[in-house]
Amino acid sequence: MPAGTSTVLTGIGELTTWAPDRPVLADAALVVEAGHVAWVGPRAEVPAADTAYDVGGRAVVPGFVDSHSHLVFAGERSAEFTARMAGEAYAAGGIRTTVRATRAATDEQLTSHVARLVAEMRRQGTTTVEIKSGYGLTVADEARSLAVAAQFTDETTFLGAHVVPEGSTPEEYVALVTGPMLAAAAPHARWVDAFCERGAFDADQARAVLAAGADAGLRGRLHANQLGPGPGVRLACELGLVAVDHCTYLDDADVSALRDSGTIATLLPGVEFSTRQPYPDARSLLDAGVRVAIASDCNPGSCFTSSVPFCLALAVREMGMTPTEALHAATAMGAAALGREDVGHLGVGARADLAVLDAPGHAHLAYRPGVPLVAETWVAGRPA
Ligand code: NIG
Ligand code: FE
Repeated sequence: MPAGTSTVLTGIGELTTWAPDRPVLADAALVVEAGHVAWVGPRAEVPAADTAYDVGGRAVVPGFVDSHSHLVFAGERSAEFTARMAGEAYAAGGIRTTVRATRAATDEQLTSHVARLVAEMRRQGTTTVEIKSGYGLTVADEARSLAVAAQFTDETTFLGAHVVPEGSTPEEYVALVTGPMLAAAAPHARWVDAFCERGAFDADQARAVLAAGADAGLRGRLHANQLGPGPGVRLACELGLVAVDHCTYLDDADVSALRDSGTIATLLPGVEFSTRQPYPDARSLLDAGVRVAIASDCNPGSCFTSSVPFCLALAVREMGMTPTEALHAATAMGAAALGREDVGHLGVGARADLAVLDAPGHAHLAYRPGVPLVAETWVAGRPA
């Protein structure tokens, strides 16, 4: 690791910054000072820096911003996956299996499990991750899930409204989520989320959860239209939420609402891979003027991948995105889906979060699926 107050990364074969004038530069250099990008431009014009690090012609991209994950859990559900691959349908009820395992785990077990998954993400180029609760579903278990998540990220999301737990009626449980559970969760959370889907929470219940969360100072996001058509996407747009996630089953009114509201559609193609559902039509969304993000949804039920590069490959192969659109969706748009401007790009002033690829260009992320191309991940100007 080069030490010093400023570091120049030079010999960058292809540098993706997303700066409006030159989003992708060939034969470039980048200067880091105090953890932030201080200069980007052609290698021939690079200013002096305290230390230099030659990346040897490899590509550098912004670190991935994974705006949707459920990392706080115990146990695993590979038997469900195996059954799905043999023809079973995905069912949200499987969430309760993970709830039982999570409640039985110690704080230390949960923390070390999240640490392992975050490290897995880092190795694959993710530098910002959102982490949800949602496998505790009691006041104490939701609060401790968020306290664990907050050790790893500022982007913590209270998802008490994941499913109605065994032994509660929906009415009782929504009252708990919007009352004592929210009060215990809010000090550890930035966001509030609900699973608005048949078999989970309806639009009125999701609206009540988001409204109570807003009163407690939490910004809203929503799981919607994952397992079938429904009112969730339009609710998110009506409320002006920054993002609505899954968006697998959309009709024309949903697409118009997304376009008109500017609410980001966060697509999670690892879920369709792991549940054998149809992929969302990213191409049509982009062509309609909808803002699209890509995230992993890493969770033990519907999609147990921590790999954004894998999701990018799916987005390109299965959802009609170009490699550049897919990378933009998992960096700049992931950041936008978290209301962040300091990450997701490598323009001057951004946090120097980046991935060095063992590849000459970012298209290789989709072109070489399954290959560990992320050679180095840097967070705030340092190898992580
Ligand atoms: O985002 N949709 C709801 N929640 C997760 C799946 C949770 C689970 O199956 O454990 C998701 O897909
Ligand atoms: Fe999810």
